[in-house]
Amino acid sequence: MSSDFYKLTIEEVVKETEDCVSLSFGIPDELKDKFSFYSGQYLTLKQEIDGADLRRSYSLCSEPSSGVHKVAIKQVEKGVFSTFANVSIKKGDSIECFPPTGNFKHIPSPKSEKNYVLFAAGSGITPILSILKSILLHEEKSTVNLFYGNKGFSSVIFREEIEALKNNFINRLSVTHIFSKENLGNRIQKGRIDEEKCEYLYDAFLKDIVIDDIYICGPEQMTLSIREVSIRRGVPSSNIHLELFGTSIKKVKSVVAKNTPSFDSVIELKLDGDEFEFPLNSEGENILDAAQKTGIDLPFACKGGVCCTCKAKVLEGNVSMDVNYGLEQDEIENGYVLTCQAHPTTEKVIISFDD
Ligand SMILES: Cc1cc2nc3c(=O)[nH]c(=O)nc-3n(C[C@H](O)[C@H](O)[C@H](O)COP(=O)(O)OP(=O)(O)OC[C@H]3O[C@@H](n4cnc5c(N)ncnc54)[C@H](O)[C@@H]3O)c2cc1C
Ligand code: FES
Repeated sequence: MSSDFYKLTIEEVVKETEDCVSLSFGIPDELKDKFSFYSGQYLTLKQEIDGADLRRSYSLCSEPSSGVHKVAIKQVEKGVFSTFANVSIKKGDSIECFPPTGNFKHIPSPKSEKNYVLFAAGSGITPILSILKSILLHEEKSTVNLFYGNKGFSSVIFREEIEALKNNFINRLSVTHIFSKENLGNRIQKGRIDEEKCEYLYDAFLKDIVIDDIYICGPEQMTLSIREVSIRRGVPSSNIHLELFGTSIKKVKSVVAKNTPSFDSVIELKLDGDEFEFPLNSEGENILDAAQKTGIDLPFACKGGVCCTCKAKVLEGNVSMDVNYGLEQDEIENGYVLTCQAHPTTEKVIISFDD
């Protein structure tokens, strides 16, 4: 993966709710191919704020065939970038942007006749909305059940757009809102989407449906609970797709066996046709941080093993990862690792961002 960011102009800024703003980017003709995407994928934005080089990922909420590249950014408490976006960004500003990427994606197949179930909470609606539109527009025979958790009506991002979709695709889309702080007059729609609530939702809405695919995006505990219930209800785990915006699970220390003495390794790194080399101790920092300290400009965003922006392929030697929330099994089998989580386990490691 190249480390190139591209300067894009912000063509539209819309206040979606009190604490969420959407930004649409203009993509020049020469970048159209680089910025093509699948529903579910995300952009990474880069901005210097108070001297710090901040990079944050935001899922595209628009649908690829619309030609629109739109993200929605919810302001989190004390969040540096999300506050900047909600308070300071204006139409006509430009911002550095890394092309769309990510494994959480839906590729529509016009002949499909599938039953999809989508779960979102809060800003987790962004990739889910794109996937929802992709299914409704490009799979004429597929149906969707969307469950969307929020505090109350006023915090529902894209409420009107979802209502319009419901009206336009009345036979194929069912939408159920679940509110933690507002009462809709029934027990099922009140509360948070936890394991118990998910069981209720299955009984009330999904009992007679053979579910083909489930897409989930929201807080970590919610996504894991839905996954667990869905597996119990017979949905194969390979058909349950999760997107995390972050993780609360504490980083574990390097996975090199505790009784193995530490050793010095040489890391050879390939990026955009260039080669770099630097030493790294097996119990030292991760490969991404170590490379950055030597001045190499590598692609990264979350540094938490979630977004996969730092993905690279190990060509020689071995590494171990602290955590991995983003890579698929086949990518791991093909030698890909998350460099923000990777530590050398052999004395020489050759790793490529170009493969
Ligand atoms: C693949 C991917 C896609 C994403 N898509 C979206 C999206 O479409 N819309 C969107 O709004 N965000 C999205 N995010 C989250 C986004 O990248 C940022 O993490 C988020 O905007 C917070 O950044 P910040 O600089 O404002 O907060 P920071 O300054 O990094 O964090 C400040 C504080 O807020 C807490 N915090 C950080 N993130 C969150 C969060 N999401 N919820 C609650 N507390 C948090 C931190 O623990 C910290 O205490 C996505 C993340 C990933 C990895
Ligand atoms: S930077 Fe996000 S997984 Fe490494």
